[in-house]
Amino acid sequence: MRIFDTHCHLYDDSYALDFDKVIKEAKENNVQKMLVLGDDLLNSKKAILLAKNYKEILAAVGIFPTSCYELDLDNSINELRNLVINNKEVKCIGEIGLDYYWEKDEEKKAMQKKFFIAQLNLAKSLNLPVSIHARDSIEDVYNILKDNFPEKGVIMHCFSSSKEMMDKFLKLGCYISLGGPVTFKNAKTPKEIALLVPLEKLLLETDAPYLTPHPYRGKRNEPKYINYTLKEIASIKEMSQEKLSEITYLNAIKLLGE
Ligand code: NI
Repeated sequence: MRIFDTHCHLYDDSYALDFDKVIKEAKENNVQKMLVLGDDLLNSKKAILLAKNYKEILAAVGIFPTSCYELDLDNSINELRNLVINNKEVKCIGEIGLDYYWEKDEEKKAMQKKFFIAQLNLAKSLNLPVSIHARDSIEDVYNILKDNFPEKGVIMHCFSSSKEMMDKFLKLGCYISLGGPVTFKNAKTPKEIALLVPLEKLLLETDAPYLTPHPYRGKRNEPKYINYTLKEIASIKEMSQEKLSEITYLNAIKLLGE
C-alpha cells in the first residue's frame, strides 16, 4: 500500500527534535510521498530544503493569506518565481487563498485577494498546480478561481464546505482534499463530502502539525496519522483501504509529478 500526503508543514518547529523519526514512521506506515507547503517566503525555502534532503518530500511555495500584510506584492511574486525556476523540487504553488476567520478588516481582506490572484496567475505562467486554503471565504475563493483558473490543477485543501459548494468546485475541475476532520465524531458535513466526492477527484492529506485525526485529536499531527483518515473514508465509501490509497496516490502523482 502507498499513500500520498498532499498537504503538510514539516518545517514546523514542533518537529525540530524528532524529524527523522517522523519521516521514518511515515514510511513505515505506507506514506511514500509528502507535499510540504510553505506559508511565507522563509518557510517556502525550508520546504525546498526538505525536498532536497528527502526523496519522499516534494515542495510547494506560497504566501498564506494572513502572511501577506507586510509584504510588497511584486517583490514577493518575483521571489516565488525565482524559487520555482531555480529548484526543480517545487511542484506546486501553495498554501494560498483567503482566510476571513482570522481577518475581519476589509482593507486587509482586499490585500489577501490581491496576493491570491497574483499567485494564481504565477501558477498559470509556470504551469504549476495550486493548493488552496479557504476559511470563511468560500464564495470569494470560488469567484476569484473561476476567473483565474490555473489549468494545471487546483487542490481545495481540507475541504470543509457544503456539498453544493463542492459541486461548483468540481465543475471548475478542482480536486477535493480531505484530512483529519473526516474522523471527528460530529463531522457530519466532512463525512457527507467524503461519501459524495468522486474518486478521481479525491486526495488525502494531514495538514500536519494541525488537524490531527481522532483518536489523537489535540496532539501534534504527523503524516503517519493519515492512515486514520484513509480508514474512515474507505469505510464511508465502502471500499478497501488499499484501493482508496492507490487511487488517491495516483491522483496526486498525476497532479504533482513524482
Ligand atoms: Ni496548511
